[in-house]
Amino acid sequence: MPEISLTSAPAHIRHGSNIGQPLTRRDGISKVKGQAAYAADHHPSRMLFAVIAVSSIARGRVAALDVAAARSHKGVVDVMTSQHKPELAIDPDIKTNPFVFRMEVLQSDEIRYANQPIAVVIAETLEAATEGAALLAPRYEALSPRVGLDAGETFAPPVVGVGNPAQVQHGDIDAGLASAAKRIEATYETPPQYHNAMEPHAIVASWDGDTLSIDTPSQAMVMARARVAELFGLAPEKILIRSPFLGGGFGSKGFLTGPQILGVMAAKLVGRPVKLVLRREQMYGPVGHRAPTRQRLRMGVDADGRLTAIDHHAKTVSSSYDDFYEPAADASHTLYSSPAIRTTHEAARVDTGTPLFMRAPGEATGSIALESAIDEMALACGMDPLAFRLKNYAEVEPTTGKPFSSKALRACYEQGAARFGWTKRPLAPRQMRDDSGLLVGWGMGTATFPALMFQAEARAVIRRDGTGVMETGAHDMGQGAWTALAQIAADSLGLDVDRVEFRSGTSDLPDAGIAGGSAHTATAGNAIHTAGAAVIAKLADLATRDERSPLFGAGNAGVIARDGRLFRRDDESRGETYADILARADLAEIDARGTGAPNPTAQTDYAMHAHGAVFAEVKVDPELGQIRVSRMVGAFAAGRIINPHLVRSQLLGGMIWGLSFALHEEAITDRRSGRIMNANLGEYHIPVNADVPPMDVLTVEEHDPHVNALGIKGVGEIGITGSAGAVANAVWHATGVRVRRFPIRIEELL
Ligand code: MOS
Repeated sequence: MPEISLTSAPAHIRHGSNIGQPLTRRDGISKVKGQAAYAADHHPSRMLFAVIAVSSIARGRVAALDVAAARSHKGVVDVMTSQHKPELAIDPDIKTNPFVFRMEVLQSDEIRYANQPIAVVIAETLEAATEGAALLAPRYEALSPRVGLDAGETFAPPVVGVGNPAQVQHGDIDAGLASAAKRIEATYETPPQYHNAMEPHAIVASWDGDTLSIDTPSQAMVMARARVAELFGLAPEKILIRSPFLGGGFGSKGFLTGPQILGVMAAKLVGRPVKLVLRREQMYGPVGHRAPTRQRLRMGVDADGRLTAIDHHAKTVSSSYDDFYEPAADASHTLYSSPAIRTTHEAARVDTGTPLFMRAPGEATGSIALESAIDEMALACGMDPLAFRLKNYAEVEPTTGKPFSSKALRACYEQGAARFGWTKRPLAPRQMRDDSGLLVGWGMGTATFPALMFQAEARAVIRRDGTGVMETGAHDMGQGAWTALAQIAADSLGLDVDRVEFRSGTSDLPDAGIAGGSAHTATAGNAIHTAGAAVIAKLADLATRDERSPLFGAGNAGVIARDGRLFRRDDESRGETYADILARADLAEIDARGTGAPNPTAQTDYAMHAHGAVFAEVKVDPELGQIRVSRMVGAFAAGRIINPHLVRSQLLGGMIWGLSFALHEEAITDRRSGRIMNANLGEYHIPVNADVPPMDVLTVEEHDPHVNALGIKGVGEIGITGSAGAVANAVWHATGVRVRRFPIRIEELL
């Protein structure tokens, strides 16, 4: 039974039966049945279709477009170009705050990357718009594009979006390396990757005078609304964004992108609602990606195998016109104890769409290099990779000396290793074969991701019929926010989850913050927790101050809420239902708002991270080099688990992504044209079911009293971080070949 116990404000919630339940996703049935309306499913009356034409060169300018041909095509209503478009209120290239994504919205004829929008054709039908776009037959003045890690001018990035300084130095690296008994130096490369959310970026925009309604997938509706407001010179209250269902985001829907703004502009231009949906190949450019990296790691150890230095330098790329960079070296800040740690970044400006956060930005790219290097160092010491990691276990955050708010990584190592059978692993490579003669290898990696939290608000209501409402504009990309947050809401209201209406997914609700940084459950959940406690406290005030109530005189702290009823802490038989309290007070409902925000003291005093340990087995065909992952075990500690079923799904998805990072994913750029050559789901390799082996996910118990009131650390991204390195290390163990360029290719094993 749900239960909350009240003290004086803020009420302290003792968790009831909703949190911790493995509920199935509450949106699942409607999604599976096709009843859930995604952005592109909306068809307001008089709606037109917009199709973008994109650049086939990566650098230069548009010299000519045959707008007349497109315009005269049957069904075409208008053609929006840099010459013919509604004016924006501000220059979209002005960075009004660090969390603004610069984007192409036809501000000029300049081309800054391949697949950049160069025109928008608006027509009565999708077919007419598509055909019209093909008739534009652009001619270009092309310049030779700057492609890859070695092109373009480099810059030392400013503070990165996720908040860590770009350059960190702790201790004396040179001394640490000089005094080392053994050293390694190795360079690892990771490729560009694209989010490839199943649902493409899409928008349906409808203007009604100076009000604007938008259906578009978003991981941060209130931030998106602010961006639209500034670009179109509107008050934010004039804009309604609806984003109840997303078909994946992975970071690519964290900021509004150029094509979404173009949809709003197109609707304004023609004075009718407009729908604009990106084609799959159009998502390889204007909506972000994971930038490639080249990472140099240097490490030293003393004669006992203790690290004396970790030096991690990451080179990456950004676009010619924005600053986002992949903070790959961040992975080395926190994981292993060393008296000297240095992490540095540089980025080259090349002719690409701006890279962006992509699931586990920084840690995904960085940890595959770090975990490979740690294995290489363990090998140099002749030590078992797990023993080496335990020897260098960080009891405090190494670069800051701060204690961890909680850290159950040792238990992750133990439980994961036990489940996997790690102790039977031979130290040397190429020692194991299966019955069919395939080489078998075992590898491991440590997982880590910061436990972040942002600011959010929620509004809680108790209605006279005894049911509850919780409102917060949360974002469900498929991760299960509608379910996990509803569970928190139910416990906070002392109700069963079926008695709570959870309202979410639109920008007119209280701001739930960004669904990013693995922080959404912590962020929105803590706002919900506070709002629920506040409304229950109000209800308790009504009862305990009323002589007619059996709770009269109990005082707020003397009352417990459970199962739609308040009762006395000292005598559970004395109490009354929410409905009775509201009826006697003649109130239809009672409401309260709550805020969730990071605790600044905890942030100053503690290092806060989730951790995990991943173990992988691979089988490699000695003749063909073909690699199959045959099983994986991941053990993760991420604070309080709100819904074990959803958490398992998130971690599984992350582990599969790690496998993909090590063996499959790569966007291939043509060096002459700057175009992505495999901009489709056929040739951009991601694991299919046949590539995914049996996987065990263990969640390790971890109580964190500091990270936030609910003790949630988040699980959205961490699953990738140990997994990619575990697979790479298993490939080495199977073959004796250390591949440092990812994804690992068959030919490198032959
Ligand atoms: Mo995530 S890459 O912060 O959506």
